[in-house]
Amino acid sequence: MPDIESMTRESRVFNVPDAFSKGAAIPAMEHYDALCAEAERDYEGFWARLARTNLLWSKPFTEVLDESNAPLYRWFGDGQLNASYNCLDRNLHDGNGDKLAILFEADDGTLTSVTYRELHARVCRFANALKHLGVARGDRVVIYLPMSIEGVVAMQACARIGATHSVVFGGFSAKALQERVSDLGAVALVTADEQMRAGKALPLKAIADEAIELGGCESVRHMVVYRRTGGRIRWTENRDRWMHEISADQSDICDAEPVDAEHPLFVLYTSGSTGRPKGVQHSTAGYLLWAMLTMKWTFDIKADDVFWCTADIGWITGHTYIAYGPLAAGATQVMFEGVPTYPDAGRFWEMIARHKVSVFYTAPTAIRSLIKAAEADAEVHPAGYNLSSLRLLGTVGEPISPDTWMWYYHHVGGDRCPIVDTFWQTETGGHVIAPLPGATPLVPGSCTLPLPGIMASVVDETGQVLPNGSGGLLAIKRPWPSMIRTIWGDTERFRQSYFPVELGGDVYLAGDGAIRDKDSGYFTITGRIDDVLNVSGHRMGTMEIESALVAHPMVAEAAVVGRSDEVTGEAICAFVVLKHECPSGAEAQQLAAELRKWVGTEIGPIAKPKDIRFGDNLPKTRSGKIMRRLLRSLAKGETITQDVSTLENPSILNQLGEAF
Ligand code: PRX
Repeated sequence: MPDIESMTRESRVFNVPDAFSKGAAIPAMEHYDALCAEAERDYEGFWARLARTNLLWSKPFTEVLDESNAPLYRWFGDGQLNASYNCLDRNLHDGNGDKLAILFEADDGTLTSVTYRELHARVCRFANALKHLGVARGDRVVIYLPMSIEGVVAMQACARIGATHSVVFGGFSAKALQERVSDLGAVALVTADEQMRAGKALPLKAIADEAIELGGCESVRHMVVYRRTGGRIRWTENRDRWMHEISADQSDICDAEPVDAEHPLFVLYTSGSTGRPKGVQHSTAGYLLWAMLTMKWTFDIKADDVFWCTADIGWITGHTYIAYGPLAAGATQVMFEGVPTYPDAGRFWEMIARHKVSVFYTAPTAIRSLIKAAEADAEVHPAGYNLSSLRLLGTVGEPISPDTWMWYYHHVGGDRCPIVDTFWQTETGGHVIAPLPGATPLVPGSCTLPLPGIMASVVDETGQVLPNGSGGLLAIKRPWPSMIRTIWGDTERFRQSYFPVELGGDVYLAGDGAIRDKDSGYFTITGRIDDVLNVSGHRMGTMEIESALVAHPMVAEAAVVGRSDEVTGEAICAFVVLKHECPSGAEAQQLAAELRKWVGTEIGPIAKPKDIRFGDNLPKTRSGKIMRRLLRSLAKGETITQDVSTLENPSILNQLGEAF
């Protein structure tokens, strides 16, 4: 349970500026309250109304929610629709054909853009090309692409023909890619020759080749390659094809295939508390409904907004708030290939000014690193850029401290723009707890209140709702349309991970701790309660990193914990026992470097431990359980004052306690 005493109470409140609430989709708390009351009164009616008025159905639904097989919920089960039709054709019919859909800025600043009409044509051509290759409804296609218009085209093309896509973040290793391709039995892998980040070309095709060579990927019949840089690559005849070549002769028209509302639109892997990542499966209708509605509610998106979400399409944020939500809402968006610090740490601010971005959505870790850079070099301080186009700011991925919130509010938003601190997860599909910028008074560090229809509360380990002011587990007690449907191929793990029997088996447990403010009921998220770390807003399972470490031939045992870090939020600390003697000095440093590199190839660079410490053993109880609590204290550099009498080997603490 989070420590209630340690929670500082934030007393600053920022009311909604009149100018903002005036034109907002939800312009006052009364409107929010009315929506919540409607959901309370007639839950199914509320969702049915929203699904009918926001989505275009090829076959209208008559069933709303089927709970008979809980927690395998079905929403709008007998309806049919197509997600790509709802994102693209809708806009052509609404007169948005010539509207800018995506303005893409490459790492080196080169701009390319597509209107809705052009995007529709490109998606149709690639969808036809996939069909020509024999990819059909229900097939899985793995997408291993950098940030690019082609990435969105690939996702939308899959949706258009009813294939289920699974995007693998370009920073993942060959092994991580192979595991995902094999778990899904994917028929095609879409990749690029190389990706560009901060001026450097990184091989993607070579990693994809290596992934296939690792074995277990026999299902892959085609590798489709987007030519990003023209760099040298290996080519396998009869399997590899250029994306532009196979799309070139295809028709600009590809009828969108109607699929069942529950048809899996995509699977996205995320870390859990075991060594194996979970393939989070999302539906078509429920997911898309929430992607679109939260664009309207949380981002208050308007026809003339320029929306910019800085996430990568390899994460859920890039799915919901780049590839689907903004398109379904008919918005214009900026998409960026590079990193916030290249060519310098003013890149985000300079891009906001140049593209006149009005709604900006990023991660606290990016803000923290840019604060640090701005403090060190006035040239890259947001004060030096014209950010007057901004009207709304957002954050996602991890708790934002009140200090960071205030800096963002003042220096980026000019004390004028509300900040939506959006709490959600890969599993929730879209925002679940977030302010409505035209209605909700803001408190720095709080994600405020659940969105209408989301029945979130703070409960104890038996599922009992706790009074405000008491820290506990964040739970959502009723199913909602955009929630995870299952873990691909592992329904039992799905039940156990999210619907513990102690809570009745039908209440969704987020895996986070939370506390509600005594007076306002506002939520503050206190962080993960399982063995999952949040490094730079990315979820990393400690067991996953431990498994990678022990796979090294020299490692006997490893335990991974997190410690707080100024920039990345949490940093990964590994305690390692070798099969041979415990190393010291230069040998230890050399081995630590080797293990870091090893984890980079086993999982990906994002999983590399920041600190590695060697010992003869790990602190264990007499029954052999590793005492992670003590390791967490050691990682923080604390002296151990706790009772260690239950330890099998107390002296080990001295050895492990030496500075990292
Ligand atoms: O711990 C919470 C944290 O990120 C986790 C979800 O990670 P992921 O599935 O990778 O999705 C990230 C993008 C939606 C959550 O369990 N988290 C996310 N948003 C917030 C947050 N913690 C605090 N405040 C947030 N706004």
